[in-house]
Amino acid sequence: MNNPKYLFANWKMYLDYDESVALAKEFTKLKKALNGSIEMAVFPSALAFKGVGEALEKSEVKLGAQNVYWVDKGGYTGEVSPGMFKALGARFALVGHSERRHVFNETNHETRQKMEAVIQAGLTPLLCVGETLGEREKGQAEEVVEAQLRSGLDGLTYSNGFTLFIAYEPVWAIGTGESCDAAEAEKMHSFISRIVQGLVPDHPPVILYGGSVRDTNVMEYLKYPLIHGVLVGGAATKIESWTEIVKNATIIPR
Ligand code: PGA
Repeated sequence: MNNPKYLFANWKMYLDYDESVALAKEFTKLKKALNGSIEMAVFPSALAFKGVGEALEKSEVKLGAQNVYWVDKGGYTGEVSPGMFKALGARFALVGHSERRHVFNETNHETRQKMEAVIQAGLTPLLCVGETLGEREKGQAEEVVEAQLRSGLDGLTYSNGFTLFIAYEPVWAIGTGESCDAAEAEKMHSFISRIVQGLVPDHPPVILYGGSVRDTNVMEYLKYPLIHGVLVGGAATKIESWTEIVKNATIIPR
């Protein structure tokens, strides 16, 4: 089996411009030292996008946007369109990250508009889904995730060869240090896989887990066949912890 493991770093708003560019350079060195079994991508802030893009140029570390708006250009103060990120080297865009949904009150409808705009611009969306603690406790986790998947994906048109990326990120596990049990995560990945295959049959999804992934637990997740990789926030903002995550990930056979 030769499937790569996907290690994606969401830097959120943790780093300023200089810190972002410096860390991007470290990521490229690390990637260079690896064999081909790891696919790495970095999601810097919009502020640092150009500098990070330049630092990643000629490396195999891919670049992605943390958030986009769904209109190309116009009077939308504070927003950036997928085409603008693409022009600076973006390959991916996060869509519907839990902080967008729960801190900025982004709805499923807005997430859907972003999905369409990202695909239209030729970027690969990474659709993030996940339930809150309250929803999990009420036994509604699958229902919530299914609704997010349906509104994000139903009836979307993709070109051939397009890979669909989904991140399962339970809201209660993000940035809290309280990671989801790996067997539970695998169960949800299996559910996600079933729903997505019903919605977009020709595009088997790559499904990442996110939420308090650390060097100490990354191996737990990657042991499971349907956890194709991880989306890491806090622990991806320091080269020391990221290096340990990468090292541990390479040990797991695929
Ligand atoms: P965390 O964030 O690793 O800091 O929990 C993950 C994410 O939000 O993608």
